[in-house]
Amino acid sequence: MVASIHPSLFDRMVKLRRDLHRHPELSREEHRTTDRLVSELERLGLECQRPLDTGLVAEIPGASDAPTVAIRADIDALPIHEETGLQYASEVPGVMHACGHDAHAAMLVGAAELLMSRPVPPPAPIRLIFQPAEELGIGARSMIEAGVLDRVGAIFGGHVDRHYPTGTVVAVSGPVNASTDGFRISISGQQGHAARPHETVDAVVAGSLIVMAVQTIVSREIDPTHPSVVSIGRFEAGTASNVIAGTAVLSGTIRAQESAVRAHLHRSLSRICESVGQLHEADIQLEIEEGTPPLVNQGPMVEVARRAASEALGPERVRTMVRGANMGGEDFSWYLQEVPGCYVRLGARLADSAGYPAHSSRFQIDEAVLPAGAAWLAEVAVQGGEALASGTVDDLEAAGRAS
Ligand code: NI
Repeated sequence: MVASIHPSLFDRMVKLRRDLHRHPELSREEHRTTDRLVSELERLGLECQRPLDTGLVAEIPGASDAPTVAIRADIDALPIHEETGLQYASEVPGVMHACGHDAHAAMLVGAAELLMSRPVPPPAPIRLIFQPAEELGIGARSMIEAGVLDRVGAIFGGHVDRHYPTGTVVAVSGPVNASTDGFRISISGQQGHAARPHETVDAVVAGSLIVMAVQTIVSREIDPTHPSVVSIGRFEAGTASNVIAGTAVLSGTIRAQESAVRAHLHRSLSRICESVGQLHEADIQLEIEEGTPPLVNQGPMVEVARRAASEALGPERVRTMVRGANMGGEDFSWYLQEVPGCYVRLGARLADSAGYPAHSSRFQIDEAVLPAGAAWLAEVAVQGGEALASGTVDDLEAAGRAS
């Protein structure tokens, strides 16, 4: 076992994780999951609050009135039909824990048990956040609006990751996940006879020009050392082969690891739409739906996360990123817009398989990540509290820069 955790706690976490895995629930529908987690925490003597319809918060009192340290797990599943063949596979057709949030929830309960069994209270109060609706990118924001960050001085969380050996923790400064914005471009031209194009404004031609021009934003406007993506996934137009389409709708996604790059992508898309509209005398409207911001770790709490991993699991298990940041989103970024913190990757690679990616119907993790994740979460909550209670946050930042 990678962390020194009592075998009976490991068994309880595995049992809980498998139960959640068997009964996955989609974003904002995590009712059974919430009830199950509440009963687990009440067994530990914790009082739970439900600030939203699903999800919950529980607080462990601290030895001081220093700001609270929050540790967070997400709890929702995905609309995917499970094909792992596991004996505890999903019993809900079309719904699956294909991102490991079942493991995140079980680990946070495990961390609560470790914290509650300490002979002395933690240096600062600890808030456990079991967050719904991460997969929609809206759960964190709703929880923040419901007040879960009140009095919070630092927040930590992590995601299972099959790219790293089980028991390792990747805690780094800099980008971890990209921003996720959606966009929709509506083109209005003039419909007409396909044999009389001069009487029309062809929305397919205007739209095609936009598709091609968009390819040059990332390749010719953005510094290639700053990863970003603009993809058009949908192009709808036309009703018949002999009718020139008068309208078209294009939609896609924008990803960036930095706020400045994200803003540049928005401006470029807008400029291209305006220019193509002028070129073809078409009315082109761009709507950008802002999603989660980029998740960027920075500041002294990264050092706290690293030290906690070293303490809980051993210095050799603290890793740096080998694959660069993930261009997928993670709504933990909303918390980091409000308070300092750190989001880590928790190695969960199965030894005997190449593994299937997250969000696939065959996704699996190594359950030995559970004790490692629980041990890290408990340790980081204590060390974060120590830093906040003793006012050594600035020293940590200096130490982190020097290391
Ligand atoms: Ni996830």
